[in-house]
Amino acid sequence: RRRNSRGINLNIHSQFQPLMDEMAPFLDRQYRAAPLVGFQLDADDAASCPVTCPWDHERTIGEVRWTTAEQTRQAIAVACEAFPRWDATPVEERAAILERFADALEAHMAELMALCCMEGGKLLSDGVAEVREAVDFCRYYAAHARELFGSATRLPGPTGESNELMLAGKGVFATISPWNFPIAIFCGQTVAAAVAGNTVLAKPAEQTSLIAHRVVELLHEAGMPREVVQLLPGDGPTVGAVLSGDPRITGVAFTGSTDTARLINRSLAERDNAPLPTLIAETGGLNAMIVDSTALPEQVVADVVASSYQSAGQRCSALRVLYVQEDIAERIIDTLRGAMAELAVGDPTRLATDVGPVIDEDARAGLQAHIDRLRSEGRLLAETPIDPATAARGTFIAPAAFRIDGIDALESEQFGPILHVATFKSGEIDDVIDTINARGYGLTFGIHSRNETFSRHVADRIRVGNVYVNRNIIGAVVGVQPFGGQGYSGTGPKAGGPHYLLRFATEKARTINT
Ligand code: SER
Repeated sequence: RRRNSRGINLNIHSQFQPLMDEMAPFLDRQYRAAPLVGFQLDADDAASCPVTCPWDHERTIGEVRWTTAEQTRQAIAVACEAFPRWDATPVEERAAILERFADALEAHMAELMALCCMEGGKLLSDGVAEVREAVDFCRYYAAHARELFGSATRLPGPTGESNELMLAGKGVFATISPWNFPIAIFCGQTVAAAVAGNTVLAKPAEQTSLIAHRVVELLHEAGMPREVVQLLPGDGPTVGAVLSGDPRITGVAFTGSTDTARLINRSLAERDNAPLPTLIAETGGLNAMIVDSTALPEQVVADVVASSYQSAGQRCSALRVLYVQEDIAERIIDTLRGAMAELAVGDPTRLATDVGPVIDEDARAGLQAHIDRLRSEGRLLAETPIDPATAARGTFIAPAAFRIDGIDALESEQFGPILHVATFKSGEIDDVIDTINARGYGLTFGIHSRNETFSRHVADRIRVGNVYVNRNIIGAVVGVQPFGGQGYSGTGPKAGGPHYLLRFATEKARTINT
């Protein structure tokens, strides 16, 4: 049986019609981004760069003025000076700013969706999810901050002694965020650091600087002081390198590749006369899903398509390696072929589109090289057709699935709509789990099985941050599925979880001899 995945999406999309009408005027707007800092910028001290739309390279959507290395150092000085006053600001005031910001994000949903489509190449459904997740982060961290920072925790002690534990901000945090969640992750990191009492230097991904700029304008309008959260649009070698090499930076919250996290870690560690730093890194994954012979093929395929191809596979949670028990592999692959033939690739502002572009030409070229290699080895199992005129206008990759022997065949994460499929025999499951664990990544993982003993066994042995049983493996919800991995996939703590704010805070125990 074939599954028409476009039919499923149309049901979801019908909810977006009113929002689409509202966002239409923003699709043609020109935006300008520049550093938003707590000091006066000289008028012409940096060049501007045009921003083009990833799915229509003839459209320019604005321009960005990059932050220089000197401006980055000035912004650090401003953040250091602002820290004691901000840290002493009652948590109630800090949390209230996050809540007003959440309201502003909701009120600007249509504009932010339009920007996500135009600059980030995101589908309408992804744009809505993006804003909702950012709103959830703001409200969740505001509520947690009140609990954690609102009053000291009384601790036991002998008669005549009072003991208390208090939390405070650590100092100056750099938040370095990715282009694939330009609102949700950007906001999550930034507001968490700020509500914990730190001052923040936010460096967005170069590819989504216009979105970050609009979001920080809203944050400042909601009452966040300009010197507390400063926006530094720029690249890694300029802004990122200055931030991670400066001894005044107390910590870095980073989401991106494992290799970049290693660079930041090294740079922080090599600083002379610097406090021992905090690094919170959420990095890549080689996420797998195991399907045994008791699984329901139609459900498996719907969840595989969502996990591998939604957001054009540009999620760190996305499925990269599907392990299917040999007995049902043919049926699963055949159903998958049918579903993939129905996917529509193209303009993300159209309701019928299932898969938009990848972010830029570098990404497209890297993915295409991987596809070409596997195709030349005769490993292609299924591919979604793509209209050549659409493909020529932007950075598109046709969703594809390839047969491989196992996770060890992949040298690195391929951050796009490419699925790899391997098979296993009954009795080999422990070897499969050992191989996945030994590969070193540990972000998301899926199991499809109607055998509860099997599911529990696999879920207990796999070393990852997020396990999903009988569903897709993307779209963790704040406060419901705290998100983040282990090993090569990150340091923890989990975003949207109860321990996240603690890593941005310092603890002080006070003992008074009464
Ligand atoms: N939190 C996202 C997800 O779960 C990935 O960053 O898909």
